[in-house]
Amino acid sequence: VKNILATVSSLVTRMLAGHPSNEDFARAFVARLRAMAAVHELLSDGKSRTVTLRTLAEIALEPYVNRPRSNLVLGGPDVALDAKTVPTVSMALHELATNAAKYGALSSREGRLELTWKVEENAGSRHLSISWREHDGPRIDALPAEGFGTSFVKRSIPYELNGTVDMSFEPEGYRATIAFPLQQESEKSASAPGMAAT
Ligand SMILES: Nc1ncnc2c1ncn2[C@@H]1O[C@H](COP(=O)(O)OP(=O)(O)OP(=O)(O)O)[C@@H](O)[C@H]1O
Ligand SMILES: [Mg+2]
Repeated sequence: VKNILATVSSLVTRMLAGHPSNEDFARAFVARLRAMAAVHELLSDGKSRTVTLRTLAEIALEPYVNRPRSNLVLGGPDVALDAKTVPTVSMALHELATNAAKYGALSSREGRLELTWKVEENAGSRHLSISWREHDGPRIDALPAEGFGTSFVKRSIPYELNGTVDMSFEPEGYRATIAFPLQQESEKSASAPGMAAT
């Protein structure tokens, strides 16, 4: 609970740094709290200490899926993420999904998102690499100013997960590659669930 409260305080502080209007603040804050709550619900249902990446992606993107139009392609192996990893990955997906819906491929009729992932073995350790590719959305003509969402993704993946983020605003659509080492079994059982502070 202490961790969660610390995360919420830091969320508020960082959101206010962008000087949003009361209305924008309230809307984005409630959406972020809902995303956090959904994840904690998954982790506290007593059945499982892990959540698959596919489940997190489906939760983050569910509001924007247009099945008849197949605007969303999800693809990758089953990867179980532990309780220490889940909050950061799910918040990152929430930020990317809301951005895609506000400005990117999920804001237009023709736009599509390809979200794929793979696990790579590298010198005895396993790394997860997540690829986010937007296509056929509004054209991006200039490098935009950074707000909370992109800053959260860029900072939290290295800080919380010891990973890397490579994002680019290509004219044909936003893209990001997020990679981080997967925890070993021994570390997994030792880690406590919680929303890590950012
Ligand atoms: N998927 C995307 N497609 C096109 N432009 C994008 C996309 N994601 C972000 N942007 C641009 O990058 C800017 C920064 O995004 P960021 O998430 O950091 O801030 P924001 O969405 O404006 O505000 P906040 O995330 O704080 O609610 C956006 O204002 C937008 O111009
Ligand atoms: Mg945003």
